[in-house]
Amino acid sequence: MDESKTQTPVLAGVPLRSPFFLAPVAGYSSAAYRSVCYEQGAALCYTEMISAEALTRSHPKTEAMLARAPEEPFYSIQLFGAKPQVLARAADVASAYHPLVIDLNCGCPVPKIVKSGAGSALLKNPETIRAIVAAMKESTDIPITVKIRKGWDESSINFLETAQAAVDAGASAVTLHGRTRAQGYGGKADWSAIALLVRSLAVPVFGSGDVLSASAAIAMLEQTSCAGVMIARGAIGNPFIFADAAALWRGGQTAPRSPAQIAAVARTHLLRSIGFLGEKTACMEFRKQFCAYTKGFAGGAAMREQAVHSSTLTEFELLLDRMESNITEGPS
Ligand SMILES: Cc1cc2nc3c(=O)[nH]c(=O)nc-3n(C[C@H](O)[C@H](O)[C@H](O)COP(=O)(O)O)c2cc1C
Repeated sequence: MDESKTQTPVLAGVPLRSPFFLAPVAGYSSAAYRSVCYEQGAALCYTEMISAEALTRSHPKTEAMLARAPEEPFYSIQLFGAKPQVLARAADVASAYHPLVIDLNCGCPVPKIVKSGAGSALLKNPETIRAIVAAMKESTDIPITVKIRKGWDESSINFLETAQAAVDAGASAVTLHGRTRAQGYGGKADWSAIALLVRSLAVPVFGSGDVLSASAAIAMLEQTSCAGVMIARGAIGNPFIFADAAALWRGGQTAPRSPAQIAAVARTHLLRSIGFLGEKTACMEFRKQFCAYTKGFAGGAAMREQAVHSSTLTEFELLLDRMESNITEGPS
């Protein structure tokens, strides 16, 4: 990339090492996985979305979701909710965990969340977004950011308005996922909307949507001039995407990892998960992660079949050993 474009983004006064972030991904952005992503080059990682309502009630499972791994230099906490006073209280609770920023989810399309007035339901009412951000700002000194979609559906594209409402209320940055709620995760993310938002706002804009490879991360930066690129699905089972994107961004090249390297990172991920969740829960959750790590591996299908029936560290150790030594091809 052209040198003038390789400026390090600054968020909450902290210079980040690159513009490549792990997005909030429910069921995946755990402390264990975030720590692995940092080690593989991610500049900033978000928690998965956390219920503001549950946080204010000191729900132990919710509090556990805020845990940070020692290998994480910092993180961002994402909250979801519908009511300004609840989000204000939750932001206060979250502040005790010293996140770099607290992000408000205005994009989740899941019916249960939307029915409660949270997630992408907020897109229908920019004034509520304004009131929530203002209330959060009142209750904490940690910078508040928001993550939005283009709009509710094609007939109500309003990202310029929702983003501006958030910024007027004091939001320090805005992430735009270039899809409507109606699109879910289908169709193509609209990067031109991200580019337009970059030109419209006085705060940093981060882009999200369809960055499934390191080269796509660079393409998003080039096409939108966004300050940061959030990677979600492209990072599942592939934390190496951060190092690869950073290498390209600095003008270098990427090199494929050997199966042994991939297995070593997957093993670290599992062992750290066990430290946080205990063996049983961590192994159950690792089933899908193992499947993602072995995507495209020769002989991967047989290992995945075994992984979805594995529940102990011993069983996974055997699979990881097989992944390390028996497989001759890396991911395609
Ligand atoms: C399984 C899954 C879980 C997600 N969870 C969240 C979440 O908790 N909070 C959020 O703001 N976005 C969430 N997203 C949306 C992503 O952060 C991202 O905006 C979207 O997937 C588009 O980026 P991608 O093409 O890189 O996947 C989720 C997406 C997926 C696929």
